Amino acid sequence: MNRIMSIITATVLVTALVGCAQVPSTPVVNKFADGELPVPSDYKNWPKFLSEIQRPEVKQVREIYINPIGHRTKAGEAFPNGTVSVMEIYKAREAADGSALIDATGKFIKGELLKIAVMGKGAGWGDSVKPAELKNGDWIYAIYLADAKTKAPDNTATCRACHLPLADKDYVFRYGEYFQKRVN
Ligand code: HEC
Repeated sequence: MNRIMSIITATVLVTALVGCAQVPSTPVVNKFADGELPVPSDYKNWPKFLSEIQRPEVKQVREIYINPIGHRTKAGEAFPNGTVSVMEIYKAREAADGSALIDATGKFIKGELLKIAVMGKGAGWGDSVKPAELKNGDWIYAIYLADAKTKAPDNTATCRACHLPLADKDYVFRYGEYFQKRVN
């Protein structure tokens, strides 16, 4: 009798353990539509893609981050699905006469954060893009104000139109510079 009871107990235990072990084997990946990709809350901890990009014609400084999935890409490859890139757009600080201030190394000084641009790719994400002629593979775009939540008024078709000619660099403007400067 005791033996039967322990077999039953063991069976119940094993069933419970197997039940607990049934966590999904593939992580759930959200599918985002163009214009809807959120700014990931932890992006400041990601690897830097490029830093202190100087844009004299618009008097801006830009900081670009890439998530760890994208950061593992080798030169010459396309970025894998799951890659997200975040670009902070800062106004360069100005003197009273409106000219941009320059630091000792000749660079603009970062002022107010104006906008945060995001681009990311995932399987089938490009299907939501309108017009379809401006599809950048499976990349989608979104842009926000400095709070990282309020959408900026920009139409994301303008993002794709400007990035579209970069198909041979997986639509990423500073592709070459990134792989040239990347240290690890
Ligand atoms: C007129 C051309 C143009 C438009 C429009 C444009 N971009 Fe870009 N984008 C660039 C350039 C050039 C860079 C490289 C960084 C730099 O020089 O400022 C860039 C870089 C980026 C990056 C960093 C990854 C990379 O490609 O180097 C992201 C993210 C990005 N843009 C998102 C957007 C979003 C979102 C929009 C639309 C709201 C947009 N871009 C519109 C020209 C453009």
